[in-house]
Amino acid sequence: MNIQVFQSKEALYDAVAKVYIDRLNQNPNLTLGLATGTTPIPLYKKLIKAYQEKLISFKGVKTFNLDEYIGLDESHPETYFNFMRRELFNHVDIDLNQTHIPNGRIDFNEAMKDYQLLLQENPIDIQLLGIGSNGHIGFNEPNTPFDSKTHIIELALKTRIDNSRLFNSLDEVPTHAITMGISEILEAKEIIVIATGKNKSDAVYEMIKGPVTESLPASILQRHKNVMVFLDTDAAHKLT
Ligand code: F6R
Repeated sequence: MNIQVFQSKEALYDAVAKVYIDRLNQNPNLTLGLATGTTPIPLYKKLIKAYQEKLISFKGVKTFNLDEYIGLDESHPETYFNFMRRELFNHVDIDLNQTHIPNGRIDFNEAMKDYQLLLQENPIDIQLLGIGSNGHIGFNEPNTPFDSKTHIIELALKTRIDNSRLFNSLDEVPTHAITMGISEILEAKEIIVIATGKNKSDAVYEMIKGPVTESLPASILQRHKNVMVFLDTDAAHKLT
């Protein structure tokens, strides 16, 4: 793992954006694995700015998101479908037909099989990950098998509490989601993990220094050959 710690979030997100700008200039037809949540928002803002400044184009880019809630109305602002349009896709020149998000509204078996097949056919060049305070990646909660593929998962109470900040109440936070599996995440040629804030510091410590165990899903990243971890000093504070 290549671990970098930044004194400011500004410097952290500049560094991550630079990686994307460089990679997109080397290969304008990248297949990107994308994440939602609070963590990637400043990165998406920087990528929108880079697009506006004509430093990058998304015309040839394909995207695959990690996950989607199950049971939210399609008009709900917190569906990851709506999140991605609001935070990135509506502001750049991406072909929306080349953007993919697991479908939380159709028959579950069909949705899982469709996404598994799509991922098999479209190897991901760079997978972006945030990390849950319980060590989840995607919505692969603790004790998800490392060999899992896209599946339906019951969200951990901790995750629902963490994410309730974006809903009117805990009751409104969905109980289930569809998520890319751990084995599919590991297929990405390159993985970029971003973590900021003290509430991630335990999970970050376990991801990097802890044993590789299904009880802390992100720990499996120790076994991937090409992982870059971008941390602010708060998220990194248990490492030293
Ligand atoms: C999002 C995802 C999750 C989040 C994680 C951290 O697509 O798969 O693993 O990355 O829950 O969320 P934030 O960034 O909101 O702290």
